[in-house]
Amino acid sequence: MSLLENIKFENISIERIKNWNDRICIVVSEGAKNEHHIRQIDKLMLGTLLKILKSKEFLEILNGESLSISFPVGLNAKVLQIVKIKERNDIQSCRFLGGEIATSQKTSSILILTEPQEKTNEILFGILLKAYQFNKYKSKKNILLESIVVLNIKNQSIKKEFGFFKALTQGVYFCRDLINEPANVLNTIEFSSRLKLLENFGLKVDVLEEEAIEKLGMRALLAVGQGSESPSKVVVIRWEGSSKDKKPLLLLGKGVVFDSGGISIKPAGGMEEMTMDMSGAAVVAGTMKALALRQSSANVIGVIGLVENMPDGKAQRPGDVVQTMKGDTVEIINTDAEGRLVLCDLLWFAQTQFSPTAVIDVATLTGAVIVALGNHNAGVFSNNENICKNFLTSAELEAEGAWRLPLSSPYQKLLKSRVADIANTGGRAAGAVTAAKFLEIFVNPKTPWIHIDIAGVAFSKAASSLSAPGATGWGVASLNRLIYNYMEKNNNLND
Ligand code: BES
Ligand code: MN
Ligand code: ZN
Repeated sequence: MSLLENIKFENISIERIKNWNDRICIVVSEGAKNEHHIRQIDKLMLGTLLKILKSKEFLEILNGESLSISFPVGLNAKVLQIVKIKERNDIQSCRFLGGEIATSQKTSSILILTEPQEKTNEILFGILLKAYQFNKYKSKKNILLESIVVLNIKNQSIKKEFGFFKALTQGVYFCRDLINEPANVLNTIEFSSRLKLLENFGLKVDVLEEEAIEKLGMRALLAVGQGSESPSKVVVIRWEGSSKDKKPLLLLGKGVVFDSGGISIKPAGGMEEMTMDMSGAAVVAGTMKALALRQSSANVIGVIGLVENMPDGKAQRPGDVVQTMKGDTVEIINTDAEGRLVLCDLLWFAQTQFSPTAVIDVATLTGAVIVALGNHNAGVFSNNENICKNFLTSAELEAEGAWRLPLSSPYQKLLKSRVADIANTGGRAAGAVTAAKFLEIFVNPKTPWIHIDIAGVAFSKAASSLSAPGATGWGVASLNRLIYNYMEKNNNLND
């Protein structure tokens, strides 16, 4: 059974603590020495706990760090981990602290005392994010955290609140699994079947095949996939949590299952990372799953474009001219600028088929956004102050870095083409902005729209505070928060 199904919430019991025979984790602030349960445990431990809490060593560690002792006297535990927490804690440090708990020791079960912490679920969410591993293809699997027991006086209300976090965690895990899969396994066919399985959670999933996509006129999207053996697909995932007359939020995802660059082929070094070029699609899929699992009361539609960008005899060439669903023609300067060709047709499709209240696209669109913002912030572009502000607030609440970049008009002329209406690249300068300007052409100025370039944040070669090397799941929590705060609790997404 997975960790997520093995989390229990109980009231504080000194017997439980005494008899627990794996790891015990106590979360304490510096001022917590007089808590009843701390003094009780200290008594069992013949004064060792208070000695530790008063020690120079404990005073010197930072908030979020921990001290561990093996086979503590008076307890049955193998390890006692004491984690230091700030008196008043923000969400980010609670999650990081959870990450610390998940990183520290190779024990399979933990008993965790969070009392009197209010934000127990944030700590738990941090543990869950950090405990995730993608070890499907490893012959030798590491010891995984298998179960958690949370002790807290408010265990009932914490358990109730956990439902929201559990759904979100499952959304993030789904997103990460998709991103971490290699492209020989997760081709467009496999991707669409995994999306189809979301129907088990109450989502409606329609898969459009090449013939239907051709009929709709999405020639730009099809041009990207025409050099691949894998057929291009457009997948529509619907969550109808509200009445039919409520306009839906549309989430669009770039799903390039592998980006070789096409005929404008990428250099070999690092090309293996381009299995993550479907991260935008995975973020949308993960968000949709979370909405379904927590029975969201919003109407949200995810539209995912699945293609593979490969060079072969049928592949598109630099110099080709393709027509978009909107009707505008595009000169292909560089076949490696393929994401915008997928998204421009998805944008037009979304606006003409669904009359959305707003459209948000998520894509690993440019290397240039990494040059601009590195790996700590996604690039955010928008034609609407209100929804943009609401998204940035949501991302901040979820401690996911997001930073707005400009969409001002002078950048537009960089996309001029000799033969067609526009070119698909704008040269070296401001690459993330010109990509966004390209997309903007396909957005009705009256449609509130956000473009999120996640090229720098979706995937990390190194481990981070809340994830193992590989997919981060960036964006699922922020989009889930945006929908919850501005479509469910309130109805002010565009205000
Ligand atoms: N998928 C890449 C962007 C990317 C780069 C994602 C690094 C993740 C990490 C995108 O399709 C691409 O190749 N963009 C080009 C555009 C250029 C040809 C105008 C780029 O950024 O170099
Ligand atoms: Mn590319
Ligand atoms: Zn790409």
